[in-house]
This record gives sequence, structure tokens and C-alpha cells, in this order.
Amino acid sequence: MKFKKKILCIGAGYVGGPTMAMIAYKCPEYKVNVVDINPERISEWNSGKLPIYEPGLDEIVKAARGRNLFFNTDIEKGIKEADIIFVSVNTPTKKYGAGAGMAADLQYWEKTARQILECSESPKIIVEKSTLPVKTALAMERILTSTDNGIHFEVLSNPEFLAEGTAVKDLENPDRVLIGSSQTEEGLKARDELIEIYENWVPKERIITTNVWSSELSKLVANAFLAQRISSINAISELCEKTDADITEVSKAVGLDSRIGSKFLNASVGFGGSCFQKDILNLVYLCRHYGLDQVADYWEGVVKINDYQKDRFVLNMLKAMFNTLAGKKVCLFGFAFKANTGDTRESPAITVSRKLIEEKAELRITDPEALNNARNDLKDIKGKISFIEDPYEAASGSHAIAIMTEWDLYSELDYEKIFQSMNKPAFIFDGRNIADHNKLFEIGFNVYGVGRPPLTHF
Ligand code: UDX
Ligand code: ADP
Repeated sequence: MKFKKKILCIGAGYVGGPTMAMIAYKCPEYKVNVVDINPERISEWNSGKLPIYEPGLDEIVKAARGRNLFFNTDIEKGIKEADIIFVSVNTPTKKYGAGAGMAADLQYWEKTARQILECSESPKIIVEKSTLPVKTALAMERILTSTDNGIHFEVLSNPEFLAEGTAVKDLENPDRVLIGSSQTEEGLKARDELIEIYENWVPKERIITTNVWSSELSKLVANAFLAQRISSINAISELCEKTDADITEVSKAVGLDSRIGSKFLNASVGFGGSCFQKDILNLVYLCRHYGLDQVADYWEGVVKINDYQKDRFVLNMLKAMFNTLAGKKVCLFGFAFKANTGDTRESPAITVSRKLIEEKAELRITDPEALNNARNDLKDIKGKISFIEDPYEAASGSHAIAIMTEWDLYSELDYEKIFQSMNKPAFIFDGRNIADHNKLFEIGFNVYGVGRPPLTHF
């Protein structure tokens, strides 16, 4: 079949994989080629069990794979034949040198830029999909124009706003698609080519355009605002625990103000995921770079409250369980950073596990999708940890359960049966406020939610 255009995506991760699957699914006249340096990842994308768990993803991959969606490791060939290249390689927080713990590590991204330059034989549109610090597109452009090979590269910013667990829904029905381009004739032409792709399924009024820097910054700011709401409600949750207020009631009353809105006001053990912390730290780094220390301190506070919330969760457990966890079995319900994903990057469960092990507790971890990642995250820890698929088996013989992830499964379990199998007094620490606390208390549990006074039998 003759395709209208050839798209390449470099990086077959949580962003690249689902985004390209949706483009291929909605635009059969485009050839969509997804490449990665990791051959295992690529063979999983070509197999019956995809490398990431996302509701609805299997269906769209199956519909498009082999038709106009292809996964392979031949990056060079992919670059040569592509008209449009999406870059969605990972950009983790830098762990070394200047900006360590704050700035984005751009080594994968820069390697990609250089590879594009080396392999290209015709003009290309390069689309930044990974979240990157502001002005990265400029750096990419500089690399791409560093030799005089006569090939024109036009760099666009098109940040991805999908959330894990709802990726397919978010891609199919996005609040907005944001495209940043340079305001030159060539920039606007490239922008229009990208618009043409999205117009296959996204209403025109939801496709918004701007300059490259505003687009890059908007992505960081959107994530910073979302994370800030969670840290705000989590900060108030501590106050609720000390008073007779209930954070769920407070957040409902506050969220009903249409200026504030009700979403992202669920108090929790803390936010996780690959984006929030990384993007805020990026923003902080950027502000410090420009000497805006007050602004940087303000945003850094969002991350500090999040760290504090995770620490506080474990300290509350320790205090409730008579100030010692040594030798006690603690069962973690959930390890993923949120429900409906197997992803555990920056999951609060990692911090909580490490702190519980420091207190010499014995861990029993269960999760319907994230156990392999959990094993990997905790592999360096010396301590007693078991990974158990069945939540009933995991809870059996435990002194306490800590609900870390809001999987529906954990609000639907037979807690009467679980209580019978546990060591007494039995404790439950609900880091997501998803269980029926009054019912658990009646069963006999000592119940500790986030942002509400505990229900205890002593
Ligand atoms: C986020 C952004 O939502 C998305 O737009 C961006 O593209 C990537 O980063 P994601 O990290 O997948 O998406 O998940 P999100 O649903 O935003 O949740 C992030 C964390 O916040 C999770 O740990 C979640 O459990 C927590 N959270 C969310 C709360 O603790 N309370 C809430 O009210 C909402
Ligand atoms: P994200 O959540 O941003 O999608 P992931 O870590 O899930 O991040 O995915 C990024 C992918 O990019 C990984 O599969 C990684 O192997 C791939 N990758 C990193 N560097 C390169 C590169 N130079 N060429 C091709 N793929 C790369």
C-alpha cells in the first residue's frame, strides 16, 4: 500500500507506544513506525502481551499492527524513510554532575538528535513528545543544523498530556492538543502537517497552536499545577487528622466551587509517577537558572510536602503500632503509583517500603499488575520481602495492611475473611481512603485513613 506520509517514533515507552498506536489506528493512510534501542521492548510490542498495561490498548494495537503500525529496532532505516519523526525517549532527572537531582538528563535525547542528523537524507519534521526543559527544541535545532548538509529540519513541540491508566481514553478524546512551532513560513507549514494528522479524530477547536517555548513551558506548568493541588490537599489532610475534620468532606465542599473544581483533590499517601516530581524539579531548576529563587522555592514546596506526606504515613503507622514495627508483618495492598497501571516509577510505595524495612518490618507486597516492577525496585534492599499475587494470602498472618494503590479490587475484598486471618490487634492504613472505614472498624480493625481521625478499639 502507498502511504500518504511516513511517521517514525523514536522511543517505544509509556508515551511513544500508546500515542503512536492511536495515530496509526485513527489514520490508516499514514505509516507509523515505532523504534527503540531495547529489543526486548520491541518484541513485547510485537507479541500478545504488550510491555505496558493500559486499558483498551491491546485492541487498538491489534487493529493497526501489521497494517500501518510497525515496531522494530532498525532506527537508522526508520530515520531515513520518515517524513515526520516523533521523539519520545526518556528524560529522567539527572543523577550526576551539575543539576543532579533537579535538571533533566538529556543524554538519550541528545543521542537521538545526533542520530537523526547522521542518518537523514531528506528534510524532516521533528516533533518533541518527551517532556523537556524549556528551550530544548532550540538545542535540538542547533544540533540538527550544526553541519552544512543542506537538509532542513523543522522542530515542533507537541507535548503529551495523557495520564497512565487512562492513556487510550485521553488520546482518543484529549482536552487539547498543543502544537508549538516557530513562526516562520516553514515552521507554520510543519505545524499544519501535524494538525492534519490530529484532525483525523480531534475536533479542530481543541487543537491549539503557539510558539515552541510557550508549548514546552505549558507542559511543565500543567503538571506543576496538578501536583500542587495534590500537595495542597495533602497538607490540609494533616490538619484534619489533628482536628475533627474529614478531608473527604473538606475536599468535596471546596471542589464544589466551580472556580476550583473537584478533580485532583483526593488526599493520598503522596503522588508518584514519572512526571510530576521530575517536571516540577525541572521547573525549579529553570527558575534558579534565571535567578528566580522565590519562584523556585514556591514550586519546590510542592515536592517537599509530597516527601513529607510519604514520611508521615510511615510515622503514623509506627506510632499507631506501639512505636515498633520490628519483626511485624506489614502487607502492602498495591505497589503501582496509581490504579490501572503496572508502572511503579516514583511510586510512594517504594519510599514506604524502604522506610518500613528500615524499621525492620517484614513486607508482603501484592498488586495485580506491578509485582515484576516492584521486585526490581526493591532488589537492592536487604530485608524480608515477599511478593504475593493473591491479596488474601498476602494479608494472612500480617499485623497490618497498608493500602498504597487505589485499585477497585481493594475496596471489594472480603475484609471479614481477611481480619480473621490476621494477627491481632489488626491495623489497616488506607493511604487512598478507598475502603469503607466504618465497616472495617465494626469488623474489628483499627482504621487509619489519610486526613481523618483514626477509628481505634483502644
Ligand atoms: C500525569 C498528568 O496527569 C498527565 O497529564 C501527564 O501527561 C503525565 O503526568 P500520570 O502521572 O500518569 O499523569 O498520573 P496522574 O493521574 O496525574 O496521577 C499522578 C499521581 O497523583 C498518582 O500517584 C496519583 O495516585 C496521585 N493523585 C492523583 C493523588 O494522590 N490525588 C489525586 O487527587 C489525583
Ligand atoms: P516515557 O514514559 O517518557 O515514554 P519510557 O522510559 O517509558 O519513557 O520510554 C522511553 C523509551 O525510549 C525506552 O523504551 C528507551 O529504551 C527508549 N530510548 C531511549 N534512548 C533511545 C534512543 N537513543 N533510541 C531509541 N530509543 C531510545
